[in-house]
Amino acid sequence: MLGRLNHVAIAVPDLDAAVSTYRDTLGAVVSAPLAQPAHGVTVVFVDVANTRIELLNPLGANSPIAGFLARNPAGGIHHICFEVEDILAARDQLKATGLRVLGDGEPKIGAHDKPVLFLHPKDLNGTLVELQQA
Ligand code: CO
Repeated sequence: MLGRLNHVAIAVPDLDAAVSTYRDTLGAVVSAPLAQPAHGVTVVFVDVANTRIELLNPLGANSPIAGFLARNPAGGIHHICFEVEDILAARDQLKATGLRVLGDGEPKIGAHDKPVLFLHPKDLNGTLVELQQA
């Protein structure tokens, strides 16, 4: 079922500082900041050879990563994202095994304009996992 690792998302308390670290210290190619009001985050994409890192910074009053940063003030890995061929088939197959899908279980359009779902971290060793249609 699992395809490629699409990205690793890291919540960061200071986006400029994180960009500087990845671009200037680590020598990575980073995008311009992209505000995503519908998702409550500003994202910077860091391209590496075999995947992508997404630096997430809270945007707006009800950012879904605000609580995470309150618990992890230095930032941290927020989720990992795997590609799947058919997100609805993957969802139904996983739900049948008892794995919990967050929210109403319907895919939302994610940061890459593709349908995504999130799986409950308690079912996956404490890791929030995003599935994205390939
Ligand atoms: Co993501």
